Amino acid sequence: MREERTFHEMMQRYNQELLRMRQQAHAAKEASFKQEPAPARPAKEETEAKIAFPGKVESGHTQICRTNQPEDHSLTVGPQGPVLLQDTLLHETLETFVHQKPIERAVHTKGYGAFGHFQLYRCMAEYTTASFLQDPSRSIPTATRFSFAVSNKGTPDTARNVRGFSTKFYLQNGVFDLLCNHIPVFLIRDAMRFPQAIASLSPSPINNLPDGNLFWDFMAHTPEATHFLTWLYSDAGTVASFRTMRGYGVNTYIWRNAAGKRRYVKYHWIPAAGETCIDAAAANRLACENPNVAGQDLWDTLAGGGTVEYELNVQLMDPQMEHTLPYDPLDDTKVWSEEQFPLMPVGKLTLERNPENYTSQVEKLAFSPANLVDGIELSNDKMLQGRSFIYWDAQRRRLGPDFRSIPVNRMEHWKPADAFSKTGLGESACGEQIRTDIEKGDDFTQAGERYRCLSEEARSHLVENIAADLKNASQKDQTCVLGYLQKADETFCEQVKSAMRQA
Ligand code: HEM
Repeated sequence: MREERTFHEMMQRYNQELLRMRQQAHAAKEASFKQEPAPARPAKEETEAKIAFPGKVESGHTQICRTNQPEDHSLTVGPQGPVLLQDTLLHETLETFVHQKPIERAVHTKGYGAFGHFQLYRCMAEYTTASFLQDPSRSIPTATRFSFAVSNKGTPDTARNVRGFSTKFYLQNGVFDLLCNHIPVFLIRDAMRFPQAIASLSPSPINNLPDGNLFWDFMAHTPEATHFLTWLYSDAGTVASFRTMRGYGVNTYIWRNAAGKRRYVKYHWIPAAGETCIDAAAANRLACENPNVAGQDLWDTLAGGGTVEYELNVQLMDPQMEHTLPYDPLDDTKVWSEEQFPLMPVGKLTLERNPENYTSQVEKLAFSPANLVDGIELSNDKMLQGRSFIYWDAQRRRLGPDFRSIPVNRMEHWKPADAFSKTGLGESACGEQIRTDIEKGDDFTQAGERYRCLSEEARSHLVENIAADLKNASQKDQTCVLGYLQKADETFCEQVKSAMRQA
């Protein structure tokens, strides 16, 4: 009994003290208001324009918007009393705020979206049974998300990066996703190394600052990334507009026709407005002037009534050709020669509409290379197979187990049996279980070819961009990477060495 009274007295004293402190703070605030000269009252039109929130009224002498709606206030004991724990309105308001933001993507974090449609040029039944590639008279609704592979929400749009270009085709028999990057090759060819690759391109885990050593150390241990390097460090790595950017499927898929004939397929989006990129100096300047320049450009184009168009092209290959090629066509560090495997125009994507709500229509888009339809399959491309599960798992984590039912994903009636894929069905696979690299590695031929096919100016930019970064790497990594460049092309290596001495 005594203890209870002591506790009661203690709480009383505590509440009195709290009240006294609040009164003091309030008096001090009132005094400071009185000392400030009242700002001139704005013109009527200006006042009305500024006070756009319902329930808010202009304060007589301070111009501060004050609220007078009960639901804008916490539940307290009297105007100065403590906030009550049972104020579910307050707690629900704050908790909804904390939970409403979806978890960010592990990669391709920053992005922008647009909606449109796809129109087929001619029936593709000769090559695939895919429903959306049969009838040129049908227009297929689409959603597209452009993104930056290694990014956070503040990454400048023009920073050197791989850009993503993913499109969802909303079909009557399901959804088909086409995930593309703006660089045709990847830096690894086995999914096992993806976490290392992304870590090497990310800020230091010690101080969260960019650390070039991580990247060059990874490069030194990854000769197959030499070809990717010749793309990322060329001006192709810095782009100011999605409207003039190409998209490449990077991995090799399969198209299967009604007779069961399978062909390897690589996808290409070609911008109708032509391809353009910018040099490092322009990229740096734009990053300061407007870090969201590419997103702004896309938004403004569509908001102004314009459209953005890309032509879908494919390269097809009979799998029997595989053995005649000097490289492995299922190796995503390689391109297929366009002379030998010409681009075949398939149809046109037209972006015509901006999102109305970024979070629900763009942030919640869930793409996966395994969202396929009958007639399109995964090939034995190791990277693609490694990717086939992880996207759904990433989406379960960031959007919850019902991610398919989110309206923009339009897979509300999906069931696991829909993931049934005919990939490899009817084909035999036998051999020893091993963990090893592919046989036809050939890490340098295409890197050299890429360097030699660039214009003189583009070559000098590539050389300068590599030199400016590589000069900060450790001696050991420099020697290794220069060794790879030498294997790609002697002159390329000599030029980088010379630029490093001058840099
Ligand atoms: C083993 C290699 C790879 C792994 C493990 C991987 C993993 C992922 C993950 C986890 C996401 C985020 C998914 C989400 O939260 O919705 C993602 C996004 C993406 N990936 Fe990959 N990725 C790999 C390789 C590639 C390659 C080769 C491409 C080339 C086309 C690619 C293109 C994209 C694109 C464009 C996105 C963004 C999709 C969007 O806009 O939501 N990825 N990747």
